[in-house]
Amino acid sequence: MPPPVTPPPTIPLLQAHSLSKSFALGRRRVWGEKRFLTAVDDVSLSLGAGDSLALVGESGCGKSTLGRLLMGFDAPDRGRVMFEGQDLARLRAGEKRRLRARVQMVFQDSGSSFNPRRSIGATLAEPYRIHGRAWSRAAIEALLEQVGLSASLYERHPVALSGGQRQRLNIARALALSPRLVVADEPVSALDVSVQAQIVNLLRRLQSELGLASVFISHDLAVVRQIADRMAVMYLGSLVEEGETLATLARPLHPYTRALVEAVPRPGRALVAPLEGDVPDAVSPPGGCRFHTRCPVARPLCAQERPKLETMGQERKVACHFPLV
Ligand SMILES: Nc1ncnc2c1ncn2[C@@H]1O[C@H](COP(=O)(O)OP(=O)(O)OP(=O)(O)O)[C@@H](O)[C@H]1O
Ligand code: SF4
Ligand SMILES: [Mg+2]
Repeated sequence: MPPPVTPPPTIPLLQAHSLSKSFALGRRRVWGEKRFLTAVDDVSLSLGAGDSLALVGESGCGKSTLGRLLMGFDAPDRGRVMFEGQDLARLRAGEKRRLRARVQMVFQDSGSSFNPRRSIGATLAEPYRIHGRAWSRAAIEALLEQVGLSASLYERHPVALSGGQRQRLNIARALALSPRLVVADEPVSALDVSVQAQIVNLLRRLQSELGLASVFISHDLAVVRQIADRMAVMYLGSLVEEGETLATLARPLHPYTRALVEAVPRPGRALVAPLEGDVPDAVSPPGGCRFHTRCPVARPLCAQERPKLETMGQERKVACHFPLV
C-alpha cells in the first residue's frame, strides 16, 4: 500500500508577526531629547483566504497605521508581514509590483480621489495600464456593473456621481486587478446612513462572490457587525481582544470592548456614558495595562504588569488580567 499523502500545510493569506511602528516627533523643549509615538505596538494577526476582519477602536489607536503596514505601504520598525508566505520586506521590485495588484486599499471617500478630467472609463483603465495588463471597454463595463453602477457611465466623469456612487467607483478601481485582499479604511464613514447600508451590502456580496479576504477599519460597531466575521479591538496601538464578531459583541471579554459596545446607542435603551477620561498620550502611555487609567474594574496588578493577548475559549483572544467571564 502506498504511504498516506500528507496534505501540504495551508499557509494563511496574510500573517502579521509582532508588528511595531513608531513615529519620531519634535524634540522635547526642556531637555531636548527625541520623542517617539508608538502607533502600533507588537501586533500579530492572521487572515485566511476569504476571511473578513474588522479593526476597531477609538480615533488615534493605530488602525490606519496597522492597515498601511499590512499593505506594505510602510515598513514596520519591528516584526514582519507575510503575504502568501512571502515576507513583504524581502520582496524584489518585480515581486512588489505583483503584490500591489493582489492587495488593494479602499479609503474613505473624500470626493477628491479621482482626477476630475479623466472619464470614469479611463479612471478604471488606469490600474490595468499601470500594471501592463490588457483591458477592454467590455471588461470595464462589466466592472462597473459588478459594483452596481450602470455601464452607461463609462464616458461620464466622476463629478457626475453621488457620494455613494463614487465609493462604488473606488471599490471598482480596487477590484480591477482581481486582488486577493482588500484593506478598506473607514469605507462608509463619510456616507449618509442609508447609503452606508447599500455599500456595506455591496462589500459583503463582493466578499462572498469573489472569495476576497478583507480588513475593514472602522470605529462604528453597527457597521462592523454587518461586514466582518471577525473583529480585533485596538487600544493605544495594541490588540486587546480578538474574536468572532457576533460572539465578541454579545459577550465582550475585555473591559474596553465592553465599554465600546455599551456606548453604542440602541433603540429603547438609555445612552450609556462613554468611558471616562481621554485616551492617554501615546508618547508616554501608562505602564502595566495601557487601559488601567480608564478601566472600571482595574486592580493594583493592572498598573504593574502588562497583560499579554492570550487565547480564551474558542477562537477568542484577550489581553486582560481579569477578563469579564
Ligand atoms: N506620519 C505620522 N507622524 C506622526 N504621528 C503619526 C503619523 N501617522 C499617525 N500618527 C499618530 O499615530 C497614532 C495612530 O494614528 P492612526 O492614524 O493609525 O490612528 P487611527 O486609529 O487610524 O485613527 P482615526 O480613527 O482617527 O483614523 C496617532 O496618535 C497619530 O497621531
Ligand atoms: S488588565 Fe486590568 S486594567 Fe487592564 S483591562 Fe484588564 S482589568 Fe482592566
Ligand atoms: Mg484612521
